Amino acid sequence: MVSYSSQRFRVLFFGTAAIALISAQAQTASVTRPRIAVETITGSQSLRDGIEIQAGTASLRIIALRDDILRVRVAPGGALPEDASWAVLAGPRSKSVDVQPSGDAASVGFHTASLDVRVERTPLRLVVRDLDGSIISADAVGRATTFFQLGGFSVYKNMPTDEHYFGLGDKTGSFDRRNQAYTLWNTDIGFQESVDPIYKSIPFFMGINGGRSYGLFLDNTWRTWFDFGKQSRDSYSFGAEGGPLDYYLLYGPSPKQVVEGYAYLTGTPQLPPLWALGFQQSRYSYTPESKVREIAARLRTDKIPSDVLYLDIDYQYKNRPFTVDPNTFPNFPALVSDLRKQHFHLVTITDLHIAHAPGQGYAPYDSGAAGDHFVKNPDGSEFIGVVWPGRAVFPDFTRAGTRDWWGGLYKKFVQDGVAGFWNDMNEPSVFDGPGKTMPLNSVHRIAEAGFVTRTATHAEIHNIVGLENARATYEGLLKLRPDERPFVLTRATFAGGQRYGLTWTGDNSATWNHLRLATQMLLNLGLSGISFVGDDVGGFGSSPAPDLLTRWVEVGAFNPFYRDHAAKGTLPHEVWVHGPEQEAIRRRYVETRYRLLPYIYTLADEASRTGIPIMRPVFLEFPEVLAPSSSGFDGLDTEFLLGSSLLIAPPPFAETLDDYTVSFPKGQWYDFWTGLKTATPPPTPSIVDIVTGTPGSSFPAPSRIHPVLDTLPVYVRGGSILPLQPLIQSTDEIPIGPLELRIYPGQECAGSLYLDDGHTFRYQHGEFLRQTFTCESDRNSVRVNFGTRQGSYTPWWKTVEVVIYDWPSTQADATLSNNTLQLKTSYDAPRHALHILMPDSAKETELRVRTY
Ligand code: NOJ
Repeated sequence: MVSYSSQRFRVLFFGTAAIALISAQAQTASVTRPRIAVETITGSQSLRDGIEIQAGTASLRIIALRDDILRVRVAPGGALPEDASWAVLAGPRSKSVDVQPSGDAASVGFHTASLDVRVERTPLRLVVRDLDGSIISADAVGRATTFFQLGGFSVYKNMPTDEHYFGLGDKTGSFDRRNQAYTLWNTDIGFQESVDPIYKSIPFFMGINGGRSYGLFLDNTWRTWFDFGKQSRDSYSFGAEGGPLDYYLLYGPSPKQVVEGYAYLTGTPQLPPLWALGFQQSRYSYTPESKVREIAARLRTDKIPSDVLYLDIDYQYKNRPFTVDPNTFPNFPALVSDLRKQHFHLVTITDLHIAHAPGQGYAPYDSGAAGDHFVKNPDGSEFIGVVWPGRAVFPDFTRAGTRDWWGGLYKKFVQDGVAGFWNDMNEPSVFDGPGKTMPLNSVHRIAEAGFVTRTATHAEIHNIVGLENARATYEGLLKLRPDERPFVLTRATFAGGQRYGLTWTGDNSATWNHLRLATQMLLNLGLSGISFVGDDVGGFGSSPAPDLLTRWVEVGAFNPFYRDHAAKGTLPHEVWVHGPEQEAIRRRYVETRYRLLPYIYTLADEASRTGIPIMRPVFLEFPEVLAPSSSGFDGLDTEFLLGSSLLIAPPPFAETLDDYTVSFPKGQWYDFWTGLKTATPPPTPSIVDIVTGTPGSSFPAPSRIHPVLDTLPVYVRGGSILPLQPLIQSTDEIPIGPLELRIYPGQECAGSLYLDDGHTFRYQHGEFLRQTFTCESDRNSVRVNFGTRQGSYTPWWKTVEVVIYDWPSTQADATLSNNTLQLKTSYDAPRHALHILMPDSAKETELRVRTY
């Protein structure tokens, strides 16, 4: 069988139906390479679920996987390449829906229940509309739109003036990808604001235009690129330097529907253990063992709630993965177990490079070589490159057997009680390799269900090494500890990486710019399917000033993954290092994080079921903020939402003391810290609600804020019901006291709660607790409905403390629908908050509160 990768030297010009083939030698020679556009349909057949089109010797197949998801494949030589994917799940790829063929003199196509798909005959142009006739996505106008050249391709699409682009994973630069161009090629680099590419490649973006959103996912693992208006003002383009032209168009219309569609294709994130949402302390490196114990002790004596400690590379013997240095960590199992007794989970780094140490008793090398698990040079020898251990070899994670072998390497660490693993350097980083990685002609030998067994060059595999490395770790841990949710932290990844663990943004710097940049990076990662994301709190490179670290600890408390980490050679930056005053502020934010864990864990559950990220851009909940008429909304790239209820508004330029403006999406907002309603000056002039199309929606006027270091502005959406718990020092601790349910009256008032044992898979067999709450209010009364609980998990609380904000007076009558007894209430006058203590109930109940 001819490998697909061997086709990369074909040059093909596609459109006037001409195809040119040139040899590999010609690639280096200076030949003229005319580009011929796809211009004319020469034939077409309707399919049950789509259409197949010929354009000369090329073919184009468009299949409706769902009414709102299309798959578009273009094959220059007519025959589609193997239908295999590292990113898209086999299930969704094999499902499709029936369509209604359509066509006229000018076009061929079909309808689904949501989309009108037409391919215009000449010039050949794919145009996708909703059923109202509005264009969702269209090939560029007045120019060729698809080219094949040197085994690669380019596609050009229309770029409407008001369209915004988000996604593409962890790219630096601006939040909105419009007017930017990017390369997707996993790269180990200490990045700055405009460095590209960096660690991850997620060839998925979302386009939002007016009230309509769509997603485009290019399922191609080679070096790809996306250009949103750099080359051309009115078209965006994408392409790859090899591999199949195979992309998916996902229709919203809301951005949330697009995110859900993408999760349908590439999978939802795994629900991590609860402790993964706690505060985590790391450093490159805590060594020797006594240092780790010192950090653990200090976190506990200083009462900094925390759950996880990390061992970076220096705990290893000669930096060799899967070893422990007996000189610095002589009692490793005892250390792990002592930390566990102090309620710490230990995460150790295990980079993917294996020291090239034949005959030295280094089992990972010996067993890997015996099993033939390493990536090869074209001549069949092992590829060797220099990384932390010196000369090293690299497992070929495209082989199921290699992943299995890799997973087994964790056995001893798992037996010792190490809780989680950190897969770093997996771009893969090779210090002495070309472009700091392996040569592109290094050889992988794919042996994987769903794929043709074949060799593939590193050029094809590079971008999925991190993905498959994390997968090998994840699946290995599942085998070793079948009932524990694996914790895998990976630096490099690809589309679908959410299935195997968490990620962070890599080697940032201790600067205000990086603190600001992190917000857009984390938001775009979330929109790219990866919900469990964070950055190095305090910055990895260089040492943060006290106020910078404090601000970072504050913002990090509202990010999904919350870890303080620092580079070698920097000053310590644990939360206590700048004295008691700074530490007190930082502690308060870490404590807030722990108080909010019931809410955050509920969001984690939602993410794991739907793919909707935990940390959300404002437009995900309020798409109207992107409407052309919404010029009143600043802060798109600095404000963010945690779930649908909390709005976090860090100062955009926190290094200055200038006042700044917080923009509020529509509705009533409350200050999270005081519980008071934000001032409600007259709203900004009405805008057209771009979702419903009706005029009259409006934003509240923005607020001017004077930044103060000890307060991060956080607001709660009116209509939220937020669950909180009493303070704990780690997630091992069972909270003592009532569950707190904070009610912020407003429109569509609702909330929910999810709970389980926090670490096993028993939740998949019914051992969970899920409950929804709603509330209705008017000036003198509030009714809170507690829905019937689902699942069999028994909660830790016996009572619930309901706190109703914006309550007008000390007087209150509070009763439950199933009980005539008056409930005890108390009034917190400065906060306008009524507190009611009620017994817990698993059955549907209504709490009725009236003032008199
Ligand atoms: C690079 C990682 O990005 C960083 O977090 C880590 O500390 C170093 N490698 C050393 O392992």
